[in-house]
Amino acid sequence: MIAIAIDGPAGAGKSTIARAIAKELGYIYVDTGALYRAVALYVTAHGADPKKEEQVEPLLKGVNVEIRFIKEEQRVFLNGYDVSAEIRQPEISMAASDVSAIPAVRTFLFALQQNMAVEHDVVMDGRDIGTVVLPKAQVKIFLTASPEERARRRFEELREKGHHVEYETLLEEVKQRDYNDAHRAIAPLRQASDAVLADTTGNTLEQSIQQLLGIVKERLKDVL
Ligand code: DC
Repeated sequence: MIAIAIDGPAGAGKSTIARAIAKELGYIYVDTGALYRAVALYVTAHGADPKKEEQVEPLLKGVNVEIRFIKEEQRVFLNGYDVSAEIRQPEISMAASDVSAIPAVRTFLFALQQNMAVEHDVVMDGRDIGTVVLPKAQVKIFLTASPEERARRRFEELREKGHHVEYETLLEEVKQRDYNDAHRAIAPLRQASDAVLADTTGNTLEQSIQQLLGIVKERLKDVL
């Protein structure tokens, strides 16, 4: 099986680019952030504080998260319900970052992520895929862009969906999430020593896809 791990901060374009690469190669695309978001949705719906381990951990026994593929698209099911749309709400983003710092949550989601790569060729994106989840991935890419560019992309994306948000607020959120994700004690966001760094600042989406496909094909040449 082949695994392509794409890690990087929020808003670097990981999911769009990873999806395009998976399509091109005929692999499945696994978005691991969606799993943390599903846990965050459950925790907040139960009135718990996503930052507090002692509130979050006992709730995990009531959580069943599954990944299913419907028309080749990943859908995330929480206790049997498709929550793929709900987990995209902006308020879930920060809660997901908070619960992801709790060791019990990471352990809880670990096997689910690893198992996806046992049965399928995958393009998997997240924060710790190349470092922790799939350390033997044949291709590892650390995808980034400046905080301003990432906030701007997010601003445009949300505006298109009809959400009203201030750019400055988003920029603050991007920086706050970067800080949280990179400074947590367990599996922090960092580039694996054998990952290729790709900075997409100033690229169009198409340029970024081509840049990453180039990296992937170059690396896979030695493997396939
Ligand atoms: O990629 P995303 O924005 O949907 O991820 C939501 C949060 O989940 C993110 O702030 C950090 C966390 N996360 C993680 O800790 N490890 C992963 N492999 C994926 C996401």
